[in-house]
Amino acid sequence: MTENQIKWWQKAVVYQIYPRSFQDANHDGIGDLKGIESRLDYVKKLGADVIWLNPVYASPNEDNGYDISDYEAINPEFGTMEDFESLLSEAHARGIKIVMDLVVNHSSSKHQWFIESKSSKDNDKRDFYIWRDPVDGHEPNNWGSFFSGPAWKFDEATGQYYLHLFAEGQPDLNWANPEVRQSVFDMMNRWVDKGIDGFRMDVISLLSKPDGLPDGPVPTDAHYASSNDMVANGPKIHDYLQEMREKVLNNADLMTVGEASNVDIKNAKRYAAKDGSELNMVFQFEHMELDENADPALGKWDNTPLPLTKLKENLSKWQNELAGVAWNSLYWENHDQPRAVSRFGSDAPEFRVKSAKMLATMLHFMQGTPYIYQGEEIGMTNAYNLGWDDFNDIEIKNARKYLVERDQLIDADTLLDYVHYKGRDNARTPMQWTDGKNAGFTDVDPWLKLNDNYKEINVDAALADEDSVFYHYQKLIAFRHDLDIVTTGRYELLDPEDEQVYAYKRVGDQEELLVINSFAKETIERDFALPDEAELLISNYQDDAGKDLRPYESKVYRIQK
Ligand code: NOJ
Repeated sequence: MTENQIKWWQKAVVYQIYPRSFQDANHDGIGDLKGIESRLDYVKKLGADVIWLNPVYASPNEDNGYDISDYEAINPEFGTMEDFESLLSEAHARGIKIVMDLVVNHSSSKHQWFIESKSSKDNDKRDFYIWRDPVDGHEPNNWGSFFSGPAWKFDEATGQYYLHLFAEGQPDLNWANPEVRQSVFDMMNRWVDKGIDGFRMDVISLLSKPDGLPDGPVPTDAHYASSNDMVANGPKIHDYLQEMREKVLNNADLMTVGEASNVDIKNAKRYAAKDGSELNMVFQFEHMELDENADPALGKWDNTPLPLTKLKENLSKWQNELAGVAWNSLYWENHDQPRAVSRFGSDAPEFRVKSAKMLATMLHFMQGTPYIYQGEEIGMTNAYNLGWDDFNDIEIKNARKYLVERDQLIDADTLLDYVHYKGRDNARTPMQWTDGKNAGFTDVDPWLKLNDNYKEINVDAALADEDSVFYHYQKLIAFRHDLDIVTTGRYELLDPEDEQVYAYKRVGDQEELLVINSFAKETIERDFALPDEAELLISNYQDDAGKDLRPYESKVYRIQK
């Protein structure tokens, strides 16, 4: 890849904003668009090029905006369409692009399409969704919802079930119906005409359901087959995305990232192919699933620490296999994942800043487009102070309802430990701006309890400390902008069997980068045979201790060839 072949989104860094939790401007305890606008200078200071906005559309919020009842209206909790347009133009004025969430595997059950579809079996919109007759008085197949429980809901009035891979209020759209596809493409084009800069596509790998919707294998102790295994990367998915490319995505210079659950390398090479026939990149999940238990009946619920060698093997596979043929996205966190410093580093006071910086360095020197989730840049941690009465997330609530109460697969205390480790509300607690009332997020009661560590961990404190996690991220972003080797260099993993250190190189024609990251809590010794002229680019310690790697030490050298 030469410099002039680099696309803008290959040198860009994305900052993800979960609007509900970012900044409340209208005193209702819920973040909003005006709040985001008031913080654009902060994003600019960090250096991010793009903001990905989680859904801001009209929604009854069964799944916090991922259940959309009108794709072309702004949720009044977040503001108005004028507020959105103002945010877009203020972002553009600062050179920041805005990528919107596109949630079209399903709509809300309150969407007009579904209301009509449900009204009778011969309604024009019946076939916009996936309806099936009962089989022997039961669900049409044995698929489970991603949020626990069955993936089908019976509708008394018309005597059929509808498919919902997520919550009951999120019926799956029927992508096999050309009218559905055209309606979605028309809606997308209207957003493109508004001037947005791209789409993050929710669970895009699930659009094409397998012919005949067959039963799947049910793991021991579980009630249902995994819909993920049955549906992801279905038979027509690449056709649908190519059609979307032709009818929408080619109409502007957009950035597109598909959230692709269950994606493997083979499919990723197609979704994110360099020829631009589908999307620019996908979010793959494998590195987020390495710390999952062997018990499929519990799905993601677990707290087993991640073995570093597995992480290295996995991320290296993605780095190597997509090089030159497709493009990676790079992330530790998003609104569905717990805080990385708590999960992969250490949030103990003596290690939090060091390990947050180490994780950042490890990820940001890889090839791909990095994503930073709000608060990650100040080292926000998991929220251990939230209990059962505080959680808002439907995934957490359903886990308790089905896995604890109905199926008794696990007790509530153990599940609570797992939720504190893995639950989505860890990421959704309000952004910590100050050490004042409600961390400066709102001046009334917030919609979700704050993490009680905001007095120590907040933006004000980070900005006042030149040694903070924030400024480390700022430097990493600047390196990506300034050094093409971060975008183009060949990736080479060093010492795959080392259980404590993740070291790799980025190799260019004239120079190479050596990226060393210790995951150890104690000082260890490693010899990387550094040449004398190696230049230390960035580190999370004040000095260089040579072969000694101190707890969570991370350093990057630039070496001329
Ligand atoms: C993935 C989104 O990131 C998540 O938050 C949501 O619950 C599901 N898709 C369903 O839309």
